[in-house]
Amino acid sequence: MPHIANASAALLSRSTSSDARSGLQSVVTFAMNILSLLAAMAPVTAVSAVSWTASPFIPHSVPLAVRSPYLSAWLPQGSGTALNEAWPAFWTGSILGWAGYVTVDGKAYTYLGLPGGVTGSTNAVQKSMSFTATQSTFVLTAGPVDITVTFLSPVEPSDFAKQSMPFSYMAVSAAPNDGALHSVQVYSDISAEWVTGDNSLTANWTTTSANGMVLHQVQLASQSQFNEVSDHIQQGSAYFASTACSATFQSGQDIIVRQQFVTHGNLANTQDTNFRAVSNNWPVFGIAHDLGTISGPSSPAVFVVGHARDPAIEYIVSGGAVQSRSSYFWSQFSSGSAAVLSFLNDYSSALSRAQNFDAKVQSDASKTSSDYAALVALSIRQAFGATEITISKNPDGSFNTDDVLMFMKEISSDGNVNTVDVIFPSWPAWLYTNPSLGKALLLPLFEYQASGQYPNKWSVHDMGSSYPKALGHNDGNDEPMPLEESGNMLIMTLSYTQKTNDLSLIQTYESLLDQWTQFLISDALIPANQISTDDFAGSLANQTNLAIKGIVGIRAMASIESLLGNTAKSQNYSYGNNTSWGLAYNLYADKLLGFNLFPQSIYTMQASWYQTVYTNFGVPLDTRHSYTKSDWQIFTAAMLQSTSTAVRDMFITGVHNYASSANNANREPIGDWYDTTSGVVEGFRARPVVGGHLALLAL
Ligand SMILES: *[C@@H]1O[C@H](CO)[C@@H](O)[C@H](O)[C@H]1NC(C)=O
Ligand SMILES: *[C@@H]1O[C@H](CO)[C@@H](O)[C@H](O)[C@H]1NC(C)=O
Ligand SMILES: *[C@@H]1O[C@H](CO)[C@@H](O)[C@H](O)[C@H]1NC(C)=O
Ligand SMILES: *[C@@H]1O[C@H](CO)[C@@H](O)[C@H](O)[C@H]1NC(C)=O
Ligand SMILES: *[C@@H]1O[C@H](CO)[C@@H](O)[C@H](O)[C@H]1NC(C)=O
Repeated sequence: MPHIANASAALLSRSTSSDARSGLQSVVTFAMNILSLLAAMAPVTAVSAVSWTASPFIPHSVPLAVRSPYLSAWLPQGSGTALNEAWPAFWTGSILGWAGYVTVDGKAYTYLGLPGGVTGSTNAVQKSMSFTATQSTFVLTAGPVDITVTFLSPVEPSDFAKQSMPFSYMAVSAAPNDGALHSVQVYSDISAEWVTGDNSLTANWTTTSANGMVLHQVQLASQSQFNEVSDHIQQGSAYFASTACSATFQSGQDIIVRQQFVTHGNLANTQDTNFRAVSNNWPVFGIAHDLGTISGPSSPAVFVVGHARDPAIEYIVSGGAVQSRSSYFWSQFSSGSAAVLSFLNDYSSALSRAQNFDAKVQSDASKTSSDYAALVALSIRQAFGATEITISKNPDGSFNTDDVLMFMKEISSDGNVNTVDVIFPSWPAWLYTNPSLGKALLLPLFEYQASGQYPNKWSVHDMGSSYPKALGHNDGNDEPMPLEESGNMLIMTLSYTQKTNDLSLIQTYESLLDQWTQFLISDALIPANQISTDDFAGSLANQTNLAIKGIVGIRAMASIESLLGNTAKSQNYSYGNNTSWGLAYNLYADKLLGFNLFPQSIYTMQASWYQTVYTNFGVPLDTRHSYTKSDWQIFTAAMLQSTSTAVRDMFITGVHNYASSANNANREPIGDWYDTTSGVVEGFRARPVVGGHLALLAL
């Protein structure tokens, strides 16, 4: 999984300032920098002093528009930050300009972002923040009107076209809080920071109003396919759209466009065609809506923000040839704007699907506890937001929707593609929501290794060093985790097959699975000196946890052979040794696959032992350090569920205490690696492994 150097680099690249914005903002920013420096020096405290309510808790960073590795907008919290007290940020921490104002009876209020240099606006006052699996909702008071701002990032596990659309909604509605009539207008804009990791590069843009939609489309004037700068893709377009009815639009310098709205409550329907660098007089792309005079709750002004590109993924196929793959949704639309239009018009249905999904997750996870339900709700967008569903083209140029592969970016730790030991902890998320997504994640790894280009006898670690280039490792020099990855592939493959009764993976790739099993037999019982998925802890010989992984992996192959009707092979791989194997989260696989290879006494022993080493923030990974992993702790909670609900809940409480301790040290999209003594995140953030928080739901 991770290379520490890169994780630190991601931290360093985090921008803490809104720097050279136009006008007064640099002064505001300077003051804020001083304040944040002072704050950073203050002792970390989990107690927040905000005046608004949070439900279920204040996370380290609130997901706003989180749909893909490149559409990943968050609101960092510190110890609690209102929607208009910080700029939305990319998962790396760099700013994504996204501003919002309302005018009420001609008086302007800021509700989103930190726009400076504009006169005549005051801050709306936040009353509440809440989140579910798909939505983050803020209520703010703007004088005599309360506005509700709902950020909906759909999770569409069973519709590959919809899930692959890298778009997200922001809906803004208003309601009088004094029983009187009020005239209300709503504004929002994005900057060109959404299209690059280098703000000195030139962007260009167009604004159109057609088919009932106002659409701004922004891109780099010089594109670089499949290449990233500071984790932003340097390819494709950002989109900002809304319904045309009652709307006005404007592009131009940030302070000019925003001042126009603040002063007049509408925009000039003009375009600035002086294409320039992202940071050169900050071009922004605004849309305003007149909600009219309202006497009760208004219907929402719905905005769509997105970032799409085509092709999306570069993928190695047989003979070293390279294939360009497209996000699934392009099979249904002839242009990006057509896709955005469909997404915009689908808002009501998308909202009701999202509400159903949220309710199901809440109901299923609440059976364990409300703390657990909160943790799961926070984790789902982050897990899905690291992935993209793709298809290839037929020789005649048409899309081949039978060839579905899903790709995952190992966000924050090193940017690898489809890292096996990152898919493994995220596995419960796919198993719970739609196991076909798990299959689509494993398929690239199977196809590549079956093509014979990977030289090692164990499973490859990942599909490529740098997302979105899935170019394999024909030199065999991928990060070596032979036992870990071979065991993971066998376990996930059997798990998928058990859950779906679809034998296609094991039928097609039996010889590859057998090859990995042979490797496990030679290496698993006394593991050679090697790293496990927790590679930040270094290599070690004879790791009990790896031996467990190998044993369960071999036993998984016995079941695979049995499903294939190969009785002799099955029996060959199902020999047992009831010697105790110690403790660890890899026993989760024994429960997930329903083997019960390990006797109850092992689980009972562990359950009582963990209680002796528990701290306020959970249980350390092992005796070498005080740090731990949130995903592995929830795996452990899940595997001990039938042994002790008290120990299960102890783990959930520890992770929940960490997840809900937003402070100046914990302000990034939640990181799975943290210290159990301080409750402070280590080097990771925003990684999809939080899918592992669904481990109880997947059993
Ligand atoms: C913007 O740049 C792209 C290349 O990224 C180019 O294809 C397009 O024509 C340009 N659009 C305008 C309006 O200049
Ligand atoms: C690992 O176990 C083997 C077999 O018991 C033993 O020979 C070897 O010394 C052990 N290695 C370490 C580093 O403990
Ligand atoms: C049984 O497993 C051993 C390795 O332990 C292997 O060498 C042998 O080929 C296997 N036999 C069958 C029938 O799979
Ligand atoms: C291991 O234990 C299980 C259940 O207790 C038992 O069925 C099995 O025969 C034992 N295996 C061996 C090799 O002792
Ligand atoms: C189980 O493994 C231990 C340690 O390798 C060995 O001494 C013992 O004979 C094995 N038991 C069986 C039933 O294979």
